[in-house]
Amino acid sequence: MTKQQAKGRLTELRTQLQKHAHRYYVLDDPIISDAEYDRLFRELLELEEHFPELITPDSPSQRVGGEPLAAFTEAIHAVPMLSLDNIFAADELEDFEERIRRRLSSSEQLTWTAEPKMDGLAVELIYEHGLLVEGSTRGNGLVGENITANLRTVRNIPLRLLATADLPARLAVRGEVFLPRRDFAELNRQRAEQDEPLFANPRNAAAGSLRQLDPKVTAARPLSFFVYGVADPAGLPCSGLAELFPWLQQLGLPVNPLIRFCRSLSEAEEHYRHLQQLRHELDYEIDGMVIKVGNFALQERIGSTTRAPRWAAAWKFPALEAEAVMSGVEYQVGRTGAITPVAVLEPVNIGGAVVRRAALHNQEEIRRKELKIGDTVLVRRAGDVIPEVVKPLIEHRSGNELAIVFPTDCPTCASALHRPEGEAVTRCRNLHCPAQRLQRIIWFAGKSGLDIEGLGPKNVEKLVEAGLIQDIPDIFSLQKESIAILDGWGEKSAEKLLQAVEKAKQTTLTKLLAALGIRHVGETTAELLANHFGDLATLMRTTTEKLLTVDGIGGQTAAALVEYFANNGNRELIARLIELGLSIPAAEKKPASTGPLHGMIFLFTGTLSNLSRTEAEERVQQLGGEAASGISKKVTHLVAGEKAGSKLKKAAEIGIVILDEQQFLRLIG
Ligand code: IVH
Repeated sequence: MTKQQAKGRLTELRTQLQKHAHRYYVLDDPIISDAEYDRLFRELLELEEHFPELITPDSPSQRVGGEPLAAFTEAIHAVPMLSLDNIFAADELEDFEERIRRRLSSSEQLTWTAEPKMDGLAVELIYEHGLLVEGSTRGNGLVGENITANLRTVRNIPLRLLATADLPARLAVRGEVFLPRRDFAELNRQRAEQDEPLFANPRNAAAGSLRQLDPKVTAARPLSFFVYGVADPAGLPCSGLAELFPWLQQLGLPVNPLIRFCRSLSEAEEHYRHLQQLRHELDYEIDGMVIKVGNFALQERIGSTTRAPRWAAAWKFPALEAEAVMSGVEYQVGRTGAITPVAVLEPVNIGGAVVRRAALHNQEEIRRKELKIGDTVLVRRAGDVIPEVVKPLIEHRSGNELAIVFPTDCPTCASALHRPEGEAVTRCRNLHCPAQRLQRIIWFAGKSGLDIEGLGPKNVEKLVEAGLIQDIPDIFSLQKESIAILDGWGEKSAEKLLQAVEKAKQTTLTKLLAALGIRHVGETTAELLANHFGDLATLMRTTTEKLLTVDGIGGQTAAALVEYFANNGNRELIARLIELGLSIPAAEKKPASTGPLHGMIFLFTGTLSNLSRTEAEERVQQLGGEAASGISKKVTHLVAGEKAGSKLKKAAEIGIVILDEQQFLRLIG
């Protein structure tokens, strides 16, 4: 291929890859298979390798992270990045509106946006003729750090905006970079395994990831981004936020689907309650809601102080931290033998939930935090993850606190515990330790494994105690009669459980690999392995060298896999499972990740003018949401078309978010 031909092909490849990445990461609606995407990507890499002079800054290849920097340079914000004033209660909302009205003539019609307040890091992205040329942190608001190379690795930040007729020569957008909760938990799990200090929360993890001098480290962290504004709306084809957000979405920028346009502050208040309820189910942390005047001309008239705009405010959620007395420490044995210390607390209410136990992570964390039994400690609940002890409140000490003595023997099987030199995790190495076995069964049947309905931790424990299950394969030879006679069970529930077990036999390689509980092999790694090896037999025969050639598999994971499959007991376990009818189809396709409407249930009423109800429902499903057929408390959004009737009234009564057709269209982009 000549250089000229290569240039043409590269342009084609980049346009296609950009389009497909946008469909995948932003719209969550891919139209080609992952394998096809990989093929295009490989072709691009090969061509670029031949003609390195043809590499462009917006090439998708640039997402993998460039060369490490010696230090960050400064980035000056032409328009300062301001902060937000806080509101803590509904009545302060009235004062906020009152202050705004005083600056305008009273007849002015105000519209608002109510937006999730993302708990991440504010960044500015500068696009010149659609090309991402600079990305920076907020810094002190006037001067931040240039972290362009790191921001390029964030999958849903477009390196080039989608072409539109009204694209300005220069566009500075602002938004929040964050680490999804699940990835945060996984990152900390890996760090614990590798004896690195844990991140206190997803926000710190995102900050730490963005401030890496080596962009390859950032690239390995699955950061995400939502845009929430522009530096300067002058000259844009939008008169306010209600037009800006759909426009930014058209350019390919990810807009949070939970942004709501409101005609009154009571509507905003309703959304606040809704977000507060939803907060624990979201895959990312939000710490409140931001309320903004929508219209740009009015924003301008209302103005800003040097610190914050007067036309916006952050309404924080109540804190999820509380003080509690730590009366003792318990030690749990995990499925890999890891001994996890857990703080026993005097019950304390945090954000509406009574907390009695909190994570202490490992011996090293206890030492680092200098905790003692009897301490009053700060406990933090972050969403649905286990609450954790943040630190002791030294000023509460009486002098009677006791040192925490880590056990030397397994609390369950009494075999000597082992903590390898320089590692943080202490383990019980007895593979037959009953506690480990129980945890392995719980893991296998649970949400991270085959997800067998009716076989949650409590029921596994019961069946193990009753002697019906001794190890994982026994799940598949359970007998109805033996279950039905157990306390709290009957014919019906036994029958139901067996049906669920039967159903779980049809599984996938990803699920099975994750279910086995191999060290370092969570769902993500399992998926990588399944996609690469296609079937279990090939994976079981593979070598460390071959494993290391798989993108995303490191030395520790490779070693753990080889060790696992070399173990006779494990091989027998797998053989037994297959004998008992577990069936894994070869070659599986990556399932679509959850979409932007994940967790939302839509109900349509009345007549829509732009699309049919079926089309609307299909669109919702494509974006990860669900469509309901009737009204119930489960419904999160009611879309009201022309001539909406009783459903609308009912929805308003039970506090469901109501959207008109325009708002719905904006939500689905
Ligand atoms: S608007 C001029 N919108 O909150 C308005 N900020 O406390 C400035 N944040 O530094 C920001 N979600 O990092 C805005 N939907 C949202 C936001 C948001 C999170 C953060 C942002 C900012 C901080 C201010």
